[in-house]
Amino acid sequence: MIPPPATAVPTLRLRHGTSMPQLGLGVWQMSDTETEAAVGAALDAGYRLVDTAAAYRNEEAVGRALRTSGVSRDEVFVTTKLWLDDYGADAARRACAASLARLGLDRVDLFLVHWPVPAEGRAALEAYRVLEELHADGRASAVGVSNFSIEDLERLRVDGRTTPSVNQVELHPYFPQRELREYAWKRGIVVQAWSPIGGSSGSGGGAGMGRGATLLAEPVLAGIAERVGRSPAQVVLRWHVQRGVSVVPKSVRPERIAENLRIFDFTLSDTDLALVDGLDSGRRGGPDPAAVNFSTFRRG
Ligand SMILES: NC(=O)c1ccc[n+]([C@@H]2O[C@H](COP(=O)([O-])OP(=O)(O)OC[C@H]3O[C@@H](n4cnc5c(N)ncnc54)[C@H](OP(=O)(O)O)[C@@H]3O)[C@@H](O)[C@H]2O)c1
Repeated sequence: MIPPPATAVPTLRLRHGTSMPQLGLGVWQMSDTETEAAVGAALDAGYRLVDTAAAYRNEEAVGRALRTSGVSRDEVFVTTKLWLDDYGADAARRACAASLARLGLDRVDLFLVHWPVPAEGRAALEAYRVLEELHADGRASAVGVSNFSIEDLERLRVDGRTTPSVNQVELHPYFPQRELREYAWKRGIVVQAWSPIGGSSGSGGGAGMGRGATLLAEPVLAGIAERVGRSPAQVVLRWHVQRGVSVVPKSVRPERIAENLRIFDFTLSDTDLALVDGLDSGRRGGPDPAAVNFSTFRRG
């Protein structure tokens, strides 16, 4: 049994009126078996947020893990995402209902539009409109977006849509998204980092979007980690948290799941935060959302 974290996970207030833990478990690139085990380990360790998506094809496994965990439904914040193949209004309504059914829930805490697909006209705006319906009828306590740029968020605003509670984007020390964070902060949108520790290097067999192994091997991080008596991953996650960002690190290993949670009982100095800021390379590891369209992820 993993000991509970020394300090509880802070929560962030969302525009739609609920609160979200600042740290959760991401479950992208996990098989069903891995998902059930990882979500179980995370809940045992003290996590109270799970980040899945229709596209991860493990919503059923997440639902099973939640039901067998012994943790009450209302204590866990569940996020899922509407995939871009389902952006037409009718398709989106069907897809959202299917996600809820796979999770075995009558409500998720946060439903996100997965990609903005700006080249596809009003598609993402219409998808977001369907999520607003889900919020109105109680099937999504909060709604938001993912991979949206400032321009994409402006399009939502000009279209008269409600301000999203969350924008989940690629964000890590190599690609810190300063401008987007500043914009989001002014509009009360919580920024949540995907690939917060640089993403999978691909060495574990996953496809991998990021350069996690490279990031975590940065001498600057090793230096700080040694000084504060933590791991490089903990230093990076702590940097996010002190910069006001929410994080959903992924791991299938119970010891890393526990390690990634143990970041609320130490503080990085301003000097160390600035050293991590200095890793900015301006280069993302994943796809540029501006270039993602309906055919980007299709095979064959
Ligand atoms: N909205 C989107 O478009 C989008 C895109 C990508 C990801 N996401 C979400 O964000 C989550 C996290 O992103 P991600 O999976 O790309 O990257 P990540 O969490 O930054 O990195 C995951 C990688 O780091 C390893 N790892 C985890 N903890 C570690 C530690 N303490 N020390 C060393 N290595 C560690 C994991 O391996 P092991 O599993 O072997 O530990 C895995 O290879 C996803 O699961 C998903 O929920 C969203």
